[in-house]
Amino acid sequence: MCADWTKSAWRSKPRVQMPDYPDAQGLEEVEGKLASYPPLVFAGEARRLRQELAEASEGRAFLLQGGDCAESFAEFRADNIRDTFKVMLQMAVVLTFGARCPVVKIGRMAGQFAKPRSAGTETIGGVELPSYRGDIINGFDFTAEARVPDPNRMLQAYTQAAATLNLLRAFSQGGFADINRVHSWTLDFTAGEEGYAEYRELADRISESLEFMTAAGVNGSNSDALHRVNYYTSHEALLLEYEEALCRVDSTTGIPIAGSGHMLWIGDRTRQVDGAHVEFCRGVQNPIGLKCGPSITESDLLRLIDKLNPKNEAGRLTLIARFGAGQVGEHLPRLIRAVEREGRKVLWSCDPMHGNTIKSETGYKTRPFERVLREVREFFAIHAAEGTIPGGVHFEMTGRDVTECTGGVRAVTDETLSDRYHTACDPRLNASQSLELAFLVADMLHNRLRAQRAAV
Ligand code: PEP
Ligand code: CO
Repeated sequence: MCADWTKSAWRSKPRVQMPDYPDAQGLEEVEGKLASYPPLVFAGEARRLRQELAEASEGRAFLLQGGDCAESFAEFRADNIRDTFKVMLQMAVVLTFGARCPVVKIGRMAGQFAKPRSAGTETIGGVELPSYRGDIINGFDFTAEARVPDPNRMLQAYTQAAATLNLLRAFSQGGFADINRVHSWTLDFTAGEEGYAEYRELADRISESLEFMTAAGVNGSNSDALHRVNYYTSHEALLLEYEEALCRVDSTTGIPIAGSGHMLWIGDRTRQVDGAHVEFCRGVQNPIGLKCGPSITESDLLRLIDKLNPKNEAGRLTLIARFGAGQVGEHLPRLIRAVEREGRKVLWSCDPMHGNTIKSETGYKTRPFERVLREVREFFAIHAAEGTIPGGVHFEMTGRDVTECTGGVRAVTDETLSDRYHTACDPRLNASQSLELAFLVADMLHNRLRAQRAAV
């Protein structure tokens, strides 16, 4: 892709948010091991994803990217993976129905272990320790030992990512995701909920259409499109020693590929134009995401686009806007206009989570659900006004019945946050909040479609 690039060139660039490993020899040994292990993804899959994202950038598909804020070693269980996957399938069905177009499904899964932090240290009861940076780097326990960066954690993360991806591949290809099972994706704890009536109705309508199609001779056993889904993985490319060790040269094209996941993104705190993270990501052929928060300037954005997508290829770059409810109007138009003026091909996605984190009165880090919804609405309204395409959403969720974000049909309040607050990092939407979000987005996509049809 870039003649002047090597997978270790990032080492000579300024780096932020990365750990200093005290055990240099241990680090080298781990890097050597990972470099000899198989990659987790195949380059052909990343190229297919890129084509699907190109479709989304032109409004013929829609991107749904979601999953954990941080995967954890302690919560590594088949049930958790399955339930998050089920919620993603439900959301995708709702969106496909509303938008009448394919939904590109990408999990924040099978590699989402490293976290940027706003402060380097954390103080509890007068004791100050290094911050927790995700299970791939150090431990969550508030002890000096746990907080030391340990390179061996990379091996455990690799193993967990491989097993997670293996299960996701089995679910997506082996019949679990067959559209005929649309009713079975409902989670037990949500089955009787009021908010789920809408999903059940939709599932009934889909089942009815499927009966018609079966009668007409099309079914899951003779149509792959009904029986399987493409499901991709993604994570923030934060820990570059891990990314470099899993980087491979794709034998078909001779172009490097990050073998750690299908799509990588660059965080809002690590997007320095001349920094280490941009340097690594510019050289791999995977689709790349770039988080855009309020501090990004138009000229920075254009320089980043030049570096990350020099050939201006559709599907290569997804700009993930995360400004916070009430702030989208100030930032998104100026960025959209700069991109349009320069004729750059990007996919615009909306992350309504990271600009809306607050501290609740009861002391929990939370996100009011109405702010999440408001940011999504603002994102769609601005694209409509600018005549550009709102191509996707990016959010943090779990299939577990958690109480981490306040609000929603089955209202979580400041007082009930403590009931099931399990996240190791940021507050996630639970299954019913995720579905509510999907219905809102589906509505907006449907309105957009109607407006387009009316204009023809
Ligand atoms: C994240 O997506 O988990 C994250 C830290 O986001 P951002 O870089 O946008 O703050
Ligand atoms: Co987060």
